[in-house]
Amino acid sequence: MKQYYTAYLKTNEEITDFFAVRMIAVKIGSNKKQYLDLILADNTGEITGKKWDISDLELPSLNMIQEGDVVKIKASVTEWNGLRQLRIARLRKAVDQDEVDRTDFIKAAPEPSDAMYEFILDEAEQIKDEDLRGIAVKLLSDNKEKLMYYPAAAKNHHAEMGGLLYHMKRMLMMGNRYCEVYANLNKSLVVTGVIVHDIEKLNEMISDCDGVVSGYSFEGQMLGHIIQGIKTIDKLAEELDVPREKAIMLEHMILSHHYEPEFGSPKKPLFPEAELLHYLDIVDARMYDMEEALIGVNKGEFSDKVRTLDFRRLYKPDAF
Ligand SMILES: [Fe+2]
Ligand SMILES: [Fe+2]
Repeated sequence: MKQYYTAYLKTNEEITDFFAVRMIAVKIGSNKKQYLDLILADNTGEITGKKWDISDLELPSLNMIQEGDVVKIKASVTEWNGLRQLRIARLRKAVDQDEVDRTDFIKAAPEPSDAMYEFILDEAEQIKDEDLRGIAVKLLSDNKEKLMYYPAAAKNHHAEMGGLLYHMKRMLMMGNRYCEVYANLNKSLVVTGVIVHDIEKLNEMISDCDGVVSGYSFEGQMLGHIIQGIKTIDKLAEELDVPREKAIMLEHMILSHHYEPEFGSPKKPLFPEAELLHYLDIVDARMYDMEEALIGVNKGEFSDKVRTLDFRRLYKPDAF
């Protein structure tokens, strides 16, 4: 039975427990000595681990530990540069991978994938514009299988099983409300934009069925989900005979959703629905990262520094 979950580890705590290995590498420290660098994970998050003295580990047994394996460690929780870290005293591969409960190591979105998928498909089927509806529904049905488990990112926001659906769903919920407030917005564009904006993450990243990303595909490395998305819409629009203006507007929404050239968008949004798409994306990512960072934090205390939030430490109120 697992007892110490990553998000709840407290500095100075001594622990012995199982963790899944996300990354493992032997590195050379500034003192020229070898040490073991790990990223360990469970269903609440990830933590860095260091084993400074590896003289007790035989190289063959070390080589047997691979990413995805579950290891048992004895460690103390330290803090380095505002982040908790495990200083590992002992480490071994879980002898029998059945020694552990797999679900302890699979981080999943809080809602079941099929329910989220149904919600999104339902939104797509209600899109007023026939051409955009055709694109959204087809992309959802063609990609159903992968959508069930794909995360929205390799690290950071929504890096979990079903994360991409969860990201889409919450963006759709927000988008719908924005359309009530700003009645000039074209809801068909907003809904379709949300559904297609990250759809090519399915072909950009390589994920296993637990939503753990092992790397990027060739196209993902060379082009990325923005360009892959534009290519997909281009092809699909031709296939479905979608008028050029609509297709290009949708492609522009994908193109500009990261907003800044340094984040992959060569152009900034040129119409309100595209502008909104960017902000829906950002808000959902930020809220997710904040929620995550606060999971194990005691009331009245601050979180670790959060890399994706410019190293802010978030506060969990005591008053509410
Ligand atoms: Fe994106
Ligand atoms: Fe996104």
